[in-house]
Amino acid sequence: MPHLIVKDFAAAKTPFEKDGVTFLFASIEKEGVVGVQIGKIKFLLCFCAYENRTILKVDKATRPPFLEAIKRALISFAQASGATILYKNFDEIKALRDRRNFYEPIEFLASYDQKTPLWIETGFGSGRHILQNAKSFADKLHLGVEIHRPSAERLLKRVEAESLNNIAVVVCDAKALFAALPSLCAQKIFIHFPVPWNKSPKRRVFSRSFLGEALRVLTANGVLNFRSDDQIYFDDALAIAREFKGVSIEIKQNAEAITRSKYEDRWRNMNKTIFDLFLTKERSQTREDFAYDFSFPSGDLSKKDLPYGLIAISESFLLRAGERWRLANKGLIVRLIMGDLLALETLYLLIEEGRASYFPSAPLPTRQNYAAHRALIESLYA
Ligand SMILES: C[S@@+](CC[C@H](N)C(=O)[O-])C[C@H]1O[C@@H](n2cnc3c(N)ncnc32)[C@H](O)[C@@H]1O
Repeated sequence: MPHLIVKDFAAAKTPFEKDGVTFLFASIEKEGVVGVQIGKIKFLLCFCAYENRTILKVDKATRPPFLEAIKRALISFAQASGATILYKNFDEIKALRDRRNFYEPIEFLASYDQKTPLWIETGFGSGRHILQNAKSFADKLHLGVEIHRPSAERLLKRVEAESLNNIAVVVCDAKALFAALPSLCAQKIFIHFPVPWNKSPKRRVFSRSFLGEALRVLTANGVLNFRSDDQIYFDDALAIAREFKGVSIEIKQNAEAITRSKYEDRWRNMNKTIFDLFLTKERSQTREDFAYDFSFPSGDLSKKDLPYGLIAISESFLLRAGERWRLANKGLIVRLIMGDLLALETLYLLIEEGRASYFPSAPLPTRQNYAAHRALIESLYA
């Protein structure tokens, strides 16, 4: 990841704009964070001091899949802070790429018209399959969900190079996104070679609750394709699928796909069996979507002691408040971990002029995140 080592650093006074980057807020201590906005992308930089030097880097939880944006923010903030750059682990900064095809999860949900049929691929890895689908099925909107930012960045480069405008890329845990997607929006869902996690099946993407959400999200006659070389994971997925009513199940072995992914090539070269599960949703269903409100009451929090550590936990959700940094004008930013125990989200609570908001954006609109949000409100405003 791009980072800088600088000396004589004293975080510049915010807000200000430099080189197309808006610096929204910054901590006033020697170690802290800086809120950055470039176009619609928001993220945090962090800085920490050691001896008489300071390291400036990007915050892991909010890191966007655009290296050039991160590099530009680092250099501009270091310069604005009067620091001397002693070391940087990157050379030139190229032009910022068009980010048309990249969406924050919540941004995708807000912009999606719910009419264009979606084909969703979770964990697209190298992106070969989703790219080929986008080219072969131009009238569909292909949503790629990937937790690994460098894979998303690679796919975004290819999408741009090939001028495709029917791919949307979201970086997040597919388990959380599926719980937030609207009902009846996807004609196809592809889960190809998901990580088997056989020693820790709780970490798998495909679970009972995931399949419940996926079936809600599928249109009638929509198909979920689970493809794996791992028979244990495949058998477990099949057993879960059999628990659901209104789903027809088809199993194939070594079926040819529209395109072979890197993983598939590797396993086929080793003569491994590739298992396919095709689950077709037979029944239509009415929409089951809820509108969750993630706003905060208007009370003044500037004199409030904010909770630290575990705030709430139940069988399905958790809320934890962690590190925090003081900002100028009595502001505060607090790291939060919240939501579904199996798909936790990391984001920040920003208190400015006594008012609370989420940074960089509100959590995904899921039942578990909403429960965590209610617990946060209770602990803040009690
Ligand atoms: C074994 S690779 C398979 C990649 C690709 N589908 C293929 O067939 O080559 C699994 C991919 O799933 C992604 N992944 C793992 N857990 C995920 C999650 N919870 N949500 C979204 N993507 C995930 C990983 O980052 C990785 O790219």
